[in-house]
Amino acid sequence: MSFLSRFVTDMFGGGPKYGALQQFTVAKENKVAKIPDHTSFAEASVLPTCFNTALVALCGEAGIGFSLPGPSLNPKQLGKTILVWGASSSVGLETLQVARAAGITTIATASPHNFEVVKSAGASQVFDYHNPFVADSLVRAIRSVEGHFVGVFDCISDEERSLSHCISVLKDVGGGKLATVKPDKKLELPGNIELCRVFAFNDLVDPFWRDFLTPALDNGTLKCLPQPRVVGEGLGWVQEALDTLEKGLLAEVGGS
Ligand SMILES: NC(=O)c1ccc[n+]([C@@H]2O[C@H](COP(=O)([O-])OP(=O)(O)OC[C@H]3O[C@@H](n4cnc5c(N)ncnc54)[C@H](OP(=O)(O)O)[C@@H]3O)[C@@H](O)[C@H]2O)c1
Repeated sequence: MSFLSRFVTDMFGGGPKYGALQQFTVAKENKVAKIPDHTSFAEASVLPTCFNTALVALCGEAGIGFSLPGPSLNPKQLGKTILVWGASSSVGLETLQVARAAGITTIATASPHNFEVVKSAGASQVFDYHNPFVADSLVRAIRSVEGHFVGVFDCISDEERSLSHCISVLKDVGGGKLATVKPDKKLELPGNIELCRVFAFNDLVDPFWRDFLTPALDNGTLKCLPQPRVVGEGLGWVQEALDTLEKGLLAEVGGS
């Protein structure tokens, strides 16, 4: 077994020894989990920040507010549904998996080339967000799903390319919660839409690091998605890695 440490552990102070971008880092005991032998460090590196973000969005007081999942492959179904917009993002894929472990049904959006991975992470239905009529399709899907529709987690939170669609869907289905990954965004929303400002670094996730992550990786409840892209090894590659990251989501949504 090896150890997986949270990407940024000094958010609340503690000094550079807790920081990222170094060969070895110090991590607090309540912010680490063992990774199984079948999982490499590179694979596990996709999880920490996005796992935290997914948990805060789904379970936190600042989030949608579900009860906490256990590491089960056959969880009790809660009869509740959410829409995960941008489900093929790292945050989205972790959210789908945590939601599945908590017995929450998810409807998702992604590009068609990611439909398979999004379904494998737990989405019950997935829609192409490039389709100009995607909001109509989502409203139909939400209306036809059994159980209670609770709200939307917008894992992209770009005003034009995601939030406007999420708000339109929520208006059409009679309101609900809207969780955003851009907690500082100013939004004017109708009274029946409740904004949840998600910020990954929240101590409520600590018990999940202790009790959920290791057994969930072990029994396959949680997979390390998406696949990591390793651009090189050592500190000399940090700039290349950051440039590669920037070309991804930020290029697509025109900056954050
Ligand atoms: N609040 C917090 O604490 C917190 C924590 C972590 C991340 N974040 C933020 O969350 C966002 C997502 O981060 P990430 O690392 O998960 O992103 P990522 O892994 O880089 O996601 C990239 C994918 O997002 C999808 N995408 C891009 N534009 C989209 C749109 N308009 N609608 C739907 N899907 C779209 C694309 O998937 P397809 O290829 O399928 O089109 C793209 O491949 C970032 O803005 C990040 O800063 C916030």
